[in-house]
Amino acid sequence: MATAIDDENFSELLEYDDDTTADKNASVDGTDGVAKRDVKGTYVSIHTSGFRDLLLKPEILRAIKDFGFEHPSEVQHECIPQAILGMDIVCQAKSGMGKTAVFVISTLQQLKPIDGEVHVLVMCHARELAFQIYKEYDRFSQYMKDIKTAVFFGGVKIKKDQDTLKNSCPHIVVGTPGRIKALVEAKNLNLKHLKHFILDECDKMLNQLDMRRDVQDIFRMTPHQKQVMMFSATLSKDIRPVCKKFMQSPLEVYVDDDTKLTLHGLQQHYVKLKDNEKNRKLFDLLDILEFNQVIIFVKSVQRCIALCELLVDQNFPAISIYRGMPQEERLSRYQAFKSFQKRILVATDLFGRGMDIERVNIAFNYDMPEDTDTYLHRVARAGRFGTKGLAITFISDENEAKVLNAVQERFEVNISELPAEIDISSYIDQPI
Ligand SMILES: Nc1ncnc2c1ncn2[C@@H]1O[C@H](COP(=O)(O)OP(=O)(O)OP(=O)(O)O)[C@@H](O)[C@H]1O
Ligand SMILES: [Mg+2]
Repeated sequence: MATAIDDENFSELLEYDDDTTADKNASVDGTDGVAKRDVKGTYVSIHTSGFRDLLLKPEILRAIKDFGFEHPSEVQHECIPQAILGMDIVCQAKSGMGKTAVFVISTLQQLKPIDGEVHVLVMCHARELAFQIYKEYDRFSQYMKDIKTAVFFGGVKIKKDQDTLKNSCPHIVVGTPGRIKALVEAKNLNLKHLKHFILDECDKMLNQLDMRRDVQDIFRMTPHQKQVMMFSATLSKDIRPVCKKFMQSPLEVYVDDDTKLTLHGLQQHYVKLKDNEKNRKLFDLLDILEFNQVIIFVKSVQRCIALCELLVDQNFPAISIYRGMPQEERLSRYQAFKSFQKRILVATDLFGRGMDIERVNIAFNYDMPEDTDTYLHRVARAGRFGTKGLAITFISDENEAKVLNAVQERFEVNISELPAEIDISSYIDQPI
């Protein structure tokens, strides 16, 4: 259980300077007397026979059985037993391995709903991700009739959120920091009874200074005694001490060997070409390759709009998503893609982390991302939970080539030139 950060520590955090990442109180390598473990690369735990061993409420087990989950993944096996005891947790585990279920299951397990009191707050960096997490709570709590969950994010009218809080106060709130902070400050959302404070994609949230400030402001408005949990597939040594400032003696789960972050079901290739050859190549590949659903990542909103228009002109079932489009539209496009009404999504980095669309088996980097973390998150949209997938990256200049080399070196992953022919069975579990 964490107590709130004391004032001194907190002001230090507020003035946090990205160049001075060392934390005086916590050793960076995690040797300050707290548990620290490596998560292995496999996706199914070797130690456990099933979710039953985790001694969860029958309603939760029933929901898990409905989804057809057979075994807890390594990260679930590692974290859920501690999480349900209320321990603080900072957890890195590779993409698509079920980090969401760790905090959803463990908070539902501990929740004793009291009407009018919010006990769980989950925040993440993007609105669609907040919506996705909210839906996961819905799914896991389908047999827990008393539990109410709500999701709050910016870009939509705040009045509706205020009415929800007034008329049917949720026990679990999921949201993005800006809107949550506005609701707390306007005294619509009362966090005085909060028992669990969770950040998903925590490195992204705490690295971005404006978001970090909002998170800290919200944290300050919660009680001293509460459980704090944070999750991401990427947790650099610089950000770990920042996370730990919100916690007390947390369980620390890190993947210190970057090669273990590589998804083995995912085939990764690159294509060297000029920028003006990208469209032709993309269309050709979309014609040749078998796909269930595809995400194409681009570097700017303009390119997102233009590429999607071109694809639609060529009769591809494409849709685009980016910051700046009205939020209702964003959400309905996300839902159209999620429910398989559209097969191709052209997206900016808005969609690069956390989003879980089961049928996506190909991810394109039409433009190479700027850093290796972003590459890792993006390509992991294909090949979720150990399934097969394909990632193809277009390289059109020196800088893009540099990032590609950095990715190969860091993750020791072999990203080879795209061959003329690829065997379907290597990137698709069941041919369609
Ligand atoms: N034990 C399990 N058995 C089978 N499928 C599972 C299990 N746990 C989670 N999943 C499924 O795996 C997929 C990926 O889970 P999730 O989105 O939580 O991954 P993640 O670790 O948060 O990845 P990311 O770092 O990309 O956010 C989801 O579709 C989820 O339903
Ligand atoms: Mg996630």
